[in-house]
Amino acid sequence: MNKYLVTYQPLFISEIAKEIEPNKFETLARGLLLLESPTTPELILSHGIYKVDAIEPIDVDQIVQSIKNLLDKTEGFAIKCRIHGNKDFTITTIEKNSRDIEVQVGTKLEQDGFIVDRKNPTAVILLTLAQNTAFITKSKPTKNPSNTDTNANDNEEIINRSQLKLREAINYFNLDLQNVKTALDIGAAPGGFSNELSKRGIKVTAIDPGKLDPTLANDKNIQYLQIRAEDFAPKEKFDMLVNDMNLHPRESAGIMLVLSKFIKPKAPCVMTIKCPSRNVFHYIDTVKELLKKDFKDFKFKHLPHNKMEITMQTTKT
Ligand SMILES: C[S@@+](CC[C@H](N)C(=O)[O-])C[C@H]1O[C@@H](n2cnc3c(N)ncnc32)[C@H](O)[C@@H]1O
Repeated sequence: MNKYLVTYQPLFISEIAKEIEPNKFETLARGLLLLESPTTPELILSHGIYKVDAIEPIDVDQIVQSIKNLLDKTEGFAIKCRIHGNKDFTITTIEKNSRDIEVQVGTKLEQDGFIVDRKNPTAVILLTLAQNTAFITKSKPTKNPSNTDTNANDNEEIINRSQLKLREAINYFNLDLQNVKTALDIGAAPGGFSNELSKRGIKVTAIDPGKLDPTLANDKNIQYLQIRAEDFAPKEKFDMLVNDMNLHPRESAGIMLVLSKFIKPKAPCVMTIKCPSRNVFHYIDTVKELLKKDFKDFKFKHLPHNKMEITMQTTKT
């Protein structure tokens, strides 16, 4: 049986517990649990999932020895340390904060002939400290596929958190936007989703009774209509639909159904399911049940920039 560290939005502890069943798990800290599973679990509510390669007490020499067993002396590596929960460890050979621990452990390994390469590592050692225990994971520097985190790039002007939600959805669901020339964005204001799509060269029709951010006024890719989505009746059909309306999931899905005749077959669609309570699986089931008439291949994920909401990806039939 393998052990996995799972990070998640702490609000959803009881919901993620339902998802994990019948596998065994232990809560290590707020938003961090240790799960036993024969294979890498796929969880809607997880953010990061990391297979644990070694477990040690928080003693620097034991941690270093354990990392030596995982590393090859020819591979450049970087250490990333994260401390969760109480930092008052009973063993005091280790530094107190994560940056100092990275340096302390890295220096000891360097002294033994291992190569620290923080800029261009071929291996990343993730050192997670929680409940007086060190959990060690070796991974490749390429993104952990279950780690969905996306941040704005330096100097990049984004409209809002929602823009990052859509970016995370495109990355996580691996959306192929190559053939997407036009998109319908319902619940578009102030325009994060529209901006993200426009930057990718897509012509967006942005629908919202609320106003778009003034910085988008001169964006030639964005056509803005200040109306409710249910009142929209275009002449064309769109290559993509995105829906971030802050309505009850049942109502929001109902409007998607009304508009589905304006969406081309096989078009990718993204909807944020705004959950009125933590009972996320109830809302997921409700939306799926309603939409299955016109949509297929449903996928769901709680993305790092989601709050009390779940992002759904689906395809127009
Ligand atoms: C969370 S905001 C959307 C954020 C937006 N996706 C972005 O990236 O900036 C929700 C929006 O849904 C809009 N909305 C609510 N009901 C609507 C409806 N019936 N038709 C269109 N938009 C609606 C609200 O006016 C609000 O601007």
